Amino acid sequence: MPIQATQHIWHNGQLIPWEKANIHVMSHVVHYGSSVFEGIRCYAQPEGAGVFRLPEHMARLVDSARIYRMPLAYTADELSTAVVDVIEANGVAPCYIRPIAFRGYGEIGVNPLKSPVEVYIANFPWGKYVPGNAGADVCVSSWNRLAPNTMPSLAKAGANYMNSQLIRMEAEINGYDEGIGLDVNGYLSEGSGENLFVVRGDVLYTTPLANSVLNGITRSSILQLARQLGITVVEQALPREMLYICDEAFFTGTAAEVTHLRSVDRILIGDGTMGPITSALHKAFFDIVNGLAPDRFNWLTPVNVKVPEPVGV
Ligand SMILES: Cc1ncc(COP(=O)(O)O)c(C=O)c1O
Repeated sequence: MPIQATQHIWHNGQLIPWEKANIHVMSHVVHYGSSVFEGIRCYAQPEGAGVFRLPEHMARLVDSARIYRMPLAYTADELSTAVVDVIEANGVAPCYIRPIAFRGYGEIGVNPLKSPVEVYIANFPWGKYVPGNAGADVCVSSWNRLAPNTMPSLAKAGANYMNSQLIRMEAEINGYDEGIGLDVNGYLSEGSGENLFVVRGDVLYTTPLANSVLNGITRSSILQLARQLGITVVEQALPREMLYICDEAFFTGTAAEVTHLRSVDRILIGDGTMGPITSALHKAFFDIVNGLAPDRFNWLTPVNVKVPEPVGV
């Protein structure tokens, strides 16, 4: 989907024009992938707009930077304020927010420590990520996810997404909406940009952090909602074939939100429609983010942007 430009981007503490947010081709990040980033959604609410789990996203950005010994000149709180500032300056909500920190123009060579750290925050409109309202048709990828002690999967680093790109390209070229990566031992890990949940009987399963998954913020929100709804939740290593015998399966992620899976490797999941546990969680999630239910977990940070009236309602 083409990026829709907005007016301003936040750069190292200042708002600059969108078209001035450029970097030199010799920046460290271009050559060695030295970036960490976040993806956050801001939802329309009846009284305005709210950013979903902003402090948690910024805490993860700070963690990612720490793993890569990348000093950030801003605290998580300061970065959260910057997100609100850039959304309000652009007046664009609902929207997707992309904070990124990377090693800029400094030295050549793999060691990043002498290249400066640049921080940018952009926001822009962005709709559905995994195609197919009727549910996604996915495959198990021939590519594995990152092996432990190679690329740390708890860091949301740009370089991790080279692996994601291989999974996603293979899936789309073969006619699927998305691919699921196995971990290095052949257990289920996650989608190229989503965490994975399966339901069998009345139990909700998801893969634990040790199976090379990102510590997804939507994942943790769904786990919290499931526990509150009295659904039994199990985080454990899952064999691939669980996907072929489960009753329901879905992805979670900031971009994917809660997307149910219709089939895996052309094997239909249940009857292909969104099953009851997925539906309950989908509804509970969207009720909160759309402001139809109280924000009982304090997940939304308000932003002062006038949201356009929905058309045809
Ligand atoms: C590889 C990967 N796994 C999982 C997720 C879901 O994480 P979150 O819910 O925090 O967006 C994402 C998206 O950020 C991702 O890129």
